[in-house]
Amino acid sequence: MEQIIRQLEQDHTLSREQLRVLLRGQSPELIRLLGEKALALRQQHYGNRVYIRGLVEFTNYCKNDCYYCGIRRSNSGVCRYRLTQEEILSCCREGYALGLRSFVLQGGEDPYWSAQRIACLVENIKKQHPDCAVTLSVGEHPEEVYRLWREAGADRYLLRHETADPVHYRLLHPKGQTWEHRMGCIQTLKELGYQTGCGFMVGSPSQGIEQLVEDLLLLQKLQPHMVGIGPFIPQKDTPFAAEPAGTLEQTLLLLSIVRLLLPKVLLPATTALGTIHPQGRELGLLAGANVCMPNLSPGGVRKHYALYDHKLSDGAEAAESLQTLEKRLKKIGCEMALTRGDHIQFERKQIHV
Ligand code: 5AD
Repeated sequence: MEQIIRQLEQDHTLSREQLRVLLRGQSPELIRLLGEKALALRQQHYGNRVYIRGLVEFTNYCKNDCYYCGIRRSNSGVCRYRLTQEEILSCCREGYALGLRSFVLQGGEDPYWSAQRIACLVENIKKQHPDCAVTLSVGEHPEEVYRLWREAGADRYLLRHETADPVHYRLLHPKGQTWEHRMGCIQTLKELGYQTGCGFMVGSPSQGIEQLVEDLLLLQKLQPHMVGIGPFIPQKDTPFAAEPAGTLEQTLLLLSIVRLLLPKVLLPATTALGTIHPQGRELGLLAGANVCMPNLSPGGVRKHYALYDHKLSDGAEAAESLQTLEKRLKKIGCEMALTRGDHIQFERKQIHV
């Protein structure tokens, strides 16, 4: 184990067998040790800065039917909403006034929000806020659509791979949604020059150490700019309602390993982590994470973007209480960075206006 940790620290790469040993060795001491090392590495590259992105969850309509997700098509218990372009622009204006310079537009795969409409929205946000970064997180689309959005000005794209094991993928999704298609999309996004994020849930149903090992190998191969990791949390109206949630401990261990494998990665302390533990977000940042994504959606719709039960959307999760977030970050020695927060590789390429 000592040799594995040394190699992880020095070479930032591990073999399948080494990853197995590491994950099987999960213990409070290992979590603490890797947490310290991951924190030091995060500080080496990013100092104490935590990048803040304003999250606009602009539609909870979705044509997909992922078994784990609360806004899946078959869930008739959801109150569906979609924001208009004007409402989204107004969220961004509000965020800009609060000091935010990075916006994430997330939504289900909503046919109303066509390729053209999203392109127009991105163009308008960039027109109104040319100094801001725009991230899209709206699922799987053809290459020409991803290209259109890139040309409209989108800088980044988040598309979690969910699991690197195709058999496991089949257990989490209905037949029409394939692992191969998801992976193809992530590859395309990278080729189009997006700062690309993938990621997975910790403790999703049927996930074991073997699946997590494959997830970590995939990250080493893909070298994404961002990685979204949070615990699986059941949602009461989904097929996985009775499944147990992922644990805080395993999520922290994985965040630290990801930081050590990808030293410069942008790694959010996710809302899901904050939801399973009152200090989850802070613990994630102390385990190597360096991004927070407070919610900028209009108050009235937040509770309807219910991917899982009891999802947080107030307090430090809410963009309008940035001061609460700032205080909490200060307490753990972090400072709030209200900048575009590009991946290091992209930083120098930015044209500042
Ligand atoms: N628990 C935790 N995360 C979830 N997601 C979807 N449903 C859940 C859930 N029940 C995550 C998925 C998706 C992202 C938008 O939210 O990983 O990619």
